[in-house]
Order: sequence, then structure tokens, then C-alpha cells
Amino acid sequence: VSQTGEVSLPRPLTSFIGRDRELAEARRLLEKARLLTLTGPGGSGKTRLSIELARSQAGDFPDGIYFVPLAPVRDARLVASTIARQLGLRESADRSLAAQLAHHLRGRRILLVLDNFEHVAAAATLLAELLADTELLRLLVSSLSALRVSGEQECPVPVRHTYSSRRGSSSQHGRRT
Ligand SMILES: Nc1ncnc2c1ncn2[C@@H]1O[C@H](COP(=O)(O)OP(=O)(O)OP(=O)(O)O)[C@@H](O)[C@H]1O
Ligand SMILES: [Mg+2]
Repeated sequence: VSQTGEVSLPRPLTSFIGRDRELAEARRLLEKARLLTLTGPGGSGKTRLSIELARSQAGDFPDGIYFVPLAPVRDARLVASTIARQLGLRESADRSLAAQLAHHLRGRRILLVLDNFEHVAAAATLLAELLADTELLRLLVSSLSALRVSGEQECPVPVRHTYSSRRGSSSQHGRRT
């Protein structure tokens, strides 16, 4: 049971500060819900919190934790293939990619961390489909606003001015905008 799977998360260059309360609250919510969405304005710390939370969950997801950056993805129809690539899943032509993803994820205790989902909000239906077609999959999403998918649990991440003063000094999350 203490088996640990692949954990592929970005390694932030600065150390994580504070946020004990938010982290504890997010952890509690992730135990209850299969889709947890961290919401808040740009720069509020959603990505950092998701990385920190995911890292602490390694023991709960023996089949792996995968970070999927969606900021560079401008078309919601590309979300499925972006997730598949991150999972190392080889696409085949005989059925829909959503079905292949669900098949791959079924029975696996995997946490997908989907970053900057606001760029591809229309893909919320894909997430709903994946959750409906699997039992153990959990999703940790960061987005400017909630996805409004059934079963979603929202966790607001308020701005902390101590971090905003550092904005721009560290671009470790591949910010392109
Ligand atoms: N708890 C923290 N400790 C240290 N640095 C932090 C913390 N939270 C956020 N930061 C830093 O503040 C900046 C913004 O945080 P982050 O990228 O997580 O925000 P975000 O809400 O994901 O922003 P966006 O909506 O633009 O994606 C980053 O440089 C990040 O490293
Ligand atoms: Mg972010």
C-alpha cells in the first residue's frame, strides 16, 4: 500500500511559503471530491498550491500524479491529446481519444493536475466524462473560475500580497502570457 507511483510535477525554484490553512483545506476537500478546482485571480498562487498539495499526495496515488500544463493549449479539443501525451498513452485510431483515456485511467489511482484550465473551459465536458467513466481518478484543477461540472468542489485561493511582489522574478511555471 505504501507503493509510490510516478510523480511528475514541476519543481518550483523558490521555497513554498505559508498557506498552511489553504493547504489543509484543499487537502480535506480533495479527500471528499473527485474534482477539486482551485480558483482565484491571476497570480494568487493556484499553481503553487496545486503542486504543493499534489506532492503531498504521492502515497494516495500509487498509479501516478501527472501535471498537465494547459496554458499553451488554445483549443479545448486538444485537451484530450495533451493529457494522453502526459500519461505516455499511445493513441490508436480505432476509437475516440476520450474513450481511450477513460480505458487507460479505469481502475487506476491517478491524480491529474490540470493547470490553467480557464484557457480550455469547454473541455470541462471531457473531465465530466472521464470522471463518470472511472472510479478512482481524481482531478486537481487550477482555473480563474469554477468549471461548473457536477461533483466539483471549489477551493478559492485568495491573493497574498507577499507573493505578488515577487511576481515575474520566477517564471518556473512557464508563464507565457
Ligand atoms: N505559497 C507560496 N510560496 C512561495 N511563492 C509563491 C506561493 N504562492 C505563489 N507563489 C509565487 O507567486 C507567483 C504566482 O503564483 P502562481 O503561479 O501559483 O499563481 P497562479 O494563481 O497560478 O497564477 P495564474 O492564474 O497566472 O496561473 C509565482 O511566482 C509563485 O512561485
Ligand atoms: Mg497558474
